[in-house]
Amino acid sequence: MSSNLTETLEYFEERLAQFIGVKHTIVTGSGRAALEITLKSLGLEGKSLLCSCFTCSIVPQTIIKAGAYPCFVDIRKNLSSDTDNIPENLSQRCSALLMNYLYGCPTDSVEEISDFAQQNELIIIEDVAQSFGAEIGNRKAGSIGEAGIFSFPKVFFPLFRGGCIATNRDDVAEEARALRARLQISPGKTSIIQTNVRRKAGLLISNVYRPIKGSKYLFPPQSKEWGNTIYYYFETTTPYHYWNLTENELEMGISTLESFAYLKKIRSNLVKDILLQIDEKWNGILTPVFPYREEYVYSKIPVLMNPSQGEKIKAFLQSHRIMQEMNYRPLCNNSLFFKKSSICSPCVTSSYISQCMIPLPVEPQMTQIFNKCVL
Ligand SMILES: Cc1ncc(COP(=O)(O)O)c(C=O)c1O
Repeated sequence: MSSNLTETLEYFEERLAQFIGVKHTIVTGSGRAALEITLKSLGLEGKSLLCSCFTCSIVPQTIIKAGAYPCFVDIRKNLSSDTDNIPENLSQRCSALLMNYLYGCPTDSVEEISDFAQQNELIIIEDVAQSFGAEIGNRKAGSIGEAGIFSFPKVFFPLFRGGCIATNRDDVAEEARALRARLQISPGKTSIIQTNVRRKAGLLISNVYRPIKGSKYLFPPQSKEWGNTIYYYFETTTPYHYWNLTENELEMGISTLESFAYLKKIRSNLVKDILLQIDEKWNGILTPVFPYREEYVYSKIPVLMNPSQGEKIKAFLQSHRIMQEMNYRPLCNNSLFFKKSSICSPCVTSSYISQCMIPLPVEPQMTQIFNKCVL
């Protein structure tokens, strides 16, 4: 690493730690690399972890990649893990609990889940991938557990990759840095270390679409029409980087932190406007999962809808070129995990939420379209 790169990295890590309110941060090439390194640094290889059934499939894949086992827990209607339905024999078998803050909204159950973890002697790891900068009480998400993991591209950072680990523990930080160094590029060789699964939307351009270099299809691409455009969806094994951000990317990270308050304000105002429109025009058709909260950072606005109107709403959004993401499917039904996971209860709420919830994007045109919708 050049001395400039080392200095910029150290400075960014220092600023991140100050911002999150922890002693150490360790920057990585992605959120999944941050999670894998964290699990290994906490000595969780071979151990079981309680993990929400309703989250990104990368999470259990990374848990397995790190040599640990996910135990899926159903969620509550506020999208947090439902600790009331975890049998004692299962929590006793687990060593850690992965606290999940989806869509930039840490929910009201954090304290309750922390109490549950403490009673059952479970280490808490916070998955803050989608919620950089969100607050819980007067603390930042990611500063509550033994460690927190972040993914930069989700909300404020103008980056396509990158993540970090936040921790107050000196031993975990030291081990994470050592692991990052061991797993990273050796000079003159490739930094690409396989493999993880990633869903990638490829835009059709003159009949050419490609997954990221070095990856392979897990199933054949599927197409979907969207206005005049056809999108191809495919799932690939994607190489990922433990550490390889460039100096430019680090500089962009530093300037994002400097303007965070301003960026958050603009985003919060937009979210408030969208929620107001929903209230005025789509009241009862779309119901926000959470009321507006200043502390949230809203990577998306999750709203509940009546499934009978769901297809019409989705078609309407698509006709206005509003990219509405696919919802998560309950992970306990995913055959990828059958052999390496356990399920601690029937995941009824996860199934309900996957059918009745849509994560709306926080985009300016969202405030202008509601009046045009006739259901
Ligand atoms: C909840 C959650 N955790 C972890 C990750 C992994 O982050 P990354 O894509 O930066 O590897 C993601 C990514 O989408 C996520 O949504």
